[in-house]
Amino acid sequence: MKTYLKSKLSMRQYELLRMAAFEFKRWKCRVTAPKKFATELKQLQLGSGARPLKHWLNVDMIGSDLNLDIATGSLPFADNQFDVIVSQHVIEHLTLEDEFLPLLKECHRSLSEGGVIWLSTPDLEKVARSYVDHKNEDMITDRQQRIPDWNMGSIPSQHFMNDIFHQQLEHRNLFDLELLTWCLTEAGFKNVQRTDEKDLVEAHPEIPMRNDDYQSIYVRATK
Ligand SMILES: C[S@@+](CC[C@H](N)C(=O)[O-])C[C@H]1O[C@@H](n2cnc3c(N)ncnc32)[C@H](O)[C@@H]1O
Repeated sequence: MKTYLKSKLSMRQYELLRMAAFEFKRWKCRVTAPKKFATELKQLQLGSGARPLKHWLNVDMIGSDLNLDIATGSLPFADNQFDVIVSQHVIEHLTLEDEFLPLLKECHRSLSEGGVIWLSTPDLEKVARSYVDHKNEDMITDRQQRIPDWNMGSIPSQHFMNDIFHQQLEHRNLFDLELLTWCLTEAGFKNVQRTDEKDLVEAHPEIPMRNDDYQSIYVRATK
């Protein structure tokens, strides 16, 4: 289906169709999602995708334990419900003011006192530094090691930067530590720290490695 559509549509039309499909999924979640959701689970994963975690409540738009649009400004959970919230490579899909900040405030409300939030996302600073120092060739090598059948053909390497900024219209923002710290603090979080994937997996060994420190920023903050 994907190959057929790509052969019939221009790249721009194909991207717009994907965005329309994404918006349709979000709309479907909005009309079907429960207003309140009670759970015994204490660990929440936002945007679980193909990586659901056992003994966690895995939330995504489709095929998860609880299908939700996490960008509506409200989450259906009780105050202080969770001890930990993890979200890997999801927040770059949200607009900052209308979607990400309200989500963080809801995460803060839903976490217990002392509860921890872990976020990872492409690192604006690493990507920009890689462009200046290596025209992104180092990041291309890193991605090829992680995704062997991915390549950019003969396009010059700096196009990687365009790709990571828009990812076929899916990405809305990249973050560095300062911007993420501001967002988390604005939502009420304390002790925002840069961390890495090793720390996250040591704290929660059930989380499979993405091996993506090279291009990602990981942060941890507490309520
Ligand atoms: C790049 S994938 C990352 C998946 C997984 N966390 C991982 O590390 O492999 C981004 C995920 O975020 C989900 N997502 C994006 N926007 C969302 C929204 N508004 N509500 C719920 N899920 C969303 C997508 O459906 C997708 O599964």
